[in-house]
Amino acid sequence: MQRLAQKWRRAGQRIVLVPTMGWLHEGHLSLVRRARKIAGPRGKVVVSIYVNPTQFGLREDFSTYPRDLKRDLKLCRAEGVDAAFAPGDAEMYPRPPGAEFSTLVAEEKLSRTMEGASRPAHFRGVTTVVAKLFNIVPPDAAVFGAKDFQQAAIVRRMARDLNFPAKIVVAPTVREPDGLAMSSRNRYLSGDLRRQATVLWRAIRRAQDTVKEAGMIPAVKLKANLKRFIGQEPDARLDHVEFFEPDTLDPVARVTAGTRMALAVFIGKTRLIDNARI
Ligand code: PAF
Repeated sequence: MQRLAQKWRRAGQRIVLVPTMGWLHEGHLSLVRRARKIAGPRGKVVVSIYVNPTQFGLREDFSTYPRDLKRDLKLCRAEGVDAAFAPGDAEMYPRPPGAEFSTLVAEEKLSRTMEGASRPAHFRGVTTVVAKLFNIVPPDAAVFGAKDFQQAAIVRRMARDLNFPAKIVVAPTVREPDGLAMSSRNRYLSGDLRRQATVLWRAIRRAQDTVKEAGMIPAVKLKANLKRFIGQEPDARLDHVEFFEPDTLDPVARVTAGTRMALAVFIGKTRLIDNARI
């Protein structure tokens, strides 16, 4: 990958990276199309496909996370992707006895709240693998999905703090017709669980409507209201809901138009996240 990227760079071609964990869906493909626009007709689009073990907690779904490289490569080809980079664990995290991989990259502020509070080592795994990808590819720009709003903010901060020249682009969340944000983990849901999963989007709409009507509402009050609302679904359990400033991720006491909302909800055993501007 590094040699290929060097060749492209010498030829003056712009490189745009779309980092993924595979099991590609329409949401990923929208990132690829955005990457193509940024790269231009002469530029190169690289999709990385790697289920990164360091961003999963011990009791999380690393072993069951959906994988189908053949299918992913077919989708990449159909989108005109120039290179799919799909390394193995031994390449990304080598373990020769006595010389194991032992360097981690951690963002220390933005990663403490929300997803970072619920999944303590998660963002350290993300920043580590993204830093590696930025050194392997290295891209002029990288495209991330807004569904992982906090992740995008953390990656942008890491790129700035560690002087990675890549421009971080955040593309809008793609939703199913009933509002469910597209995610590889939707694959775990069927029947009534799939129906219940729309409660994340319904909760967002409820918060947006409440603020539209009231103009301002204390965050604690809105949180309590949404917790009750989500709890009406038999298999839904709120993990967290937060209202915050979109630039700093600092929590706000009063929710008004422009505040960002993010939530994580378990639907049965599946943990889903979503976020939106209020
Ligand atoms: O958003 C994801 O799919 C992953 O967190 C990423 C950015 C590919 C890193 O493994």
